Amino acid sequence: MRIPFIAGNWKMYKTIAEAKAFAKEFKALYHDTDVKTAIFAPFTQLQSLVSEFDGSGIAVGAQNVHFEKEGAFTGELSVQMLEEIKVDYCLVGHSERRQYFGETDETVNLKLKALLCSKILPVLCVGENLEEREEGKAKLLVGAQVKAAFDGIDSKDAEKVTVAYEPVWAIGTGKTATPEQANDMCACIRETLTELYDEETADRIVIQYGGSVKPENATEIMNMEEIDGALVGGASLEPLKFIEIVNF
Ligand code: 13P
Repeated sequence: MRIPFIAGNWKMYKTIAEAKAFAKEFKALYHDTDVKTAIFAPFTQLQSLVSEFDGSGIAVGAQNVHFEKEGAFTGELSVQMLEEIKVDYCLVGHSERRQYFGETDETVNLKLKALLCSKILPVLCVGENLEEREEGKAKLLVGAQVKAAFDGIDSKDAEKVTVAYEPVWAIGTGKTATPEQANDMCACIRETLTELYDEETADRIVIQYGGSVKPENATEIMNMEEIDGALVGGASLEPLKFIEIVNF
């Protein structure tokens, strides 16, 4: 049985003061549910959020990490540094990192491996851009991203990874993939995972959809057979909107 997992990705939004105000308001609205809930926040807010959400059932995640243990990597943070402040999750390979910060399939794979040696659970983002979809290459491209990301990772570790399917053309555009398109790609990702591992392993891996998820479309998306969760950008910045999605 896969447990639904709804996560907010704040990207580069909110100060520490704003994050604390969100946490207070969101905690008051949140009732322990069977839905796993997490907020992926910028680095400076992580420590406050971990302490604000302590004991609430709401998890906290980072948006990026370096794969090396330590070294001359100005501006980067290691897995150990994130473990020290007790974050639960870390995003890997978000399309904005692939697009603007040189993240490649190879660094995504190294980051997954580094996180899997720790207690921090990775959320791997994959997704095609508009041109790739229009050329009919979406499934091939996403399949290749999944294969490259899981290269050299055994089935026991693979089960700890959540996969987030985020079509680039649906991110921040207000343009959502239809529930059928999203479901179809999530099914395809699970088929790739079955090829890489086996049916049992693939069945245990949680697959989220992300791209303009909002209170108005969350139920329909979450009701799709192959979609186990959502990775929410814009709508996770407002407690009232995000709680509606969590309670889909
Ligand atoms: P939006 O929900 O703002 O489209 O962002 C999706 C996303 O990129 C989450 O990681």
